[in-house]
Amino acid sequence: MEVVKSPLEMQNIALNLKKAGKRIGFVPTMGYLHEGHLSLVRRAKQENDVVVVSIFVNPLQFGKNEDLDRYPRDFERDCSLCEREKVDYIFYPSASDMYPEDFKTYVEVKDLPDVLCGKFRPGHFRGVTTVVLKLFNIVQPDNAYFGEKDYQQLKIIQRMVKDLNVPVNVIGCPIVREPDGLAMSSRNKYLSEEERKSAVFISKALFQVKETFERGERDVNKLKDMGINILKQAPLIREIQYFEVVHPESLEPKEIAESSDVVAVAVYIGNTRLIDNIRL
Ligand code: PAJ
Repeated sequence: MEVVKSPLEMQNIALNLKKAGKRIGFVPTMGYLHEGHLSLVRRAKQENDVVVVSIFVNPLQFGKNEDLDRYPRDFERDCSLCEREKVDYIFYPSASDMYPEDFKTYVEVKDLPDVLCGKFRPGHFRGVTTVVLKLFNIVQPDNAYFGEKDYQQLKIIQRMVKDLNVPVNVIGCPIVREPDGLAMSSRNKYLSEEERKSAVFISKALFQVKETFERGERDVNKLKDMGINILKQAPLIREIQYFEVVHPESLEPKEIAESSDVVAVAVYIGNTRLIDNIRL
């Protein structure tokens, strides 16, 4: 495994691999890797000749009062996890190499970022699309793997790739959960023992809503009320930012739930913002 820091060097390696006919699989991350990330890496290993994982805590996608400075980092540990998965390259650029002082170009998808997380994190998805397009241009992947954990992010990246004719296959992968149902996230590390107990109500609410849908309930207001009531049983959930049933492609809120709609939730537990979703 090779760690590459320079964007130019990474791009040269990638262009040479392509010339040699290799299929490149790419897993973009912000590091502090867990089984959710590793599930993407394993899928990429199966479907490509060479696998590149990027580790870059992208300042552009963090708001002023968000957790950029305290975002968990452990590069050594990430390296050994990647080594174990037989990753070929880790791309580990610096912020100043990705965004030199004269940087002036941004990628913005319209409409899709105006709902769900985007409503509460202005500019966040513009930061995500900008960095992901840069990473695609540097890493030159055939296939890029994203988790459905960040469902809105996945949809926005698929939109960008389609609209801008980016020659990358964007592949969505299922959410990996802890045994009690909590979706894995680097941010779970922020949770105290008590907060961790409250966090389990997030997936509990989603599972209950799905079960109620499967028993025949289609009224979104009723499904939402039920989910929100479960969240309210968690002593340390201090804010429910949204609990919505949305169309899987347009992300528009539904009134009557249908199969394959997405139930999406964002809450604050203490200072930690957690998101999760489930497909009906
Ligand atoms: P990060 O939060 O590190 O996540 C990297 C990838 O792992 C994303 O595609 C995310 O959806 C996926 N992932 C995270 N938790 C998961 C889980 N429990 N199950 C399955 N997949 C999971 O998302 C980002 O980084 C950034 O926004 C990035 C795309 C790298 C751009 O900066």
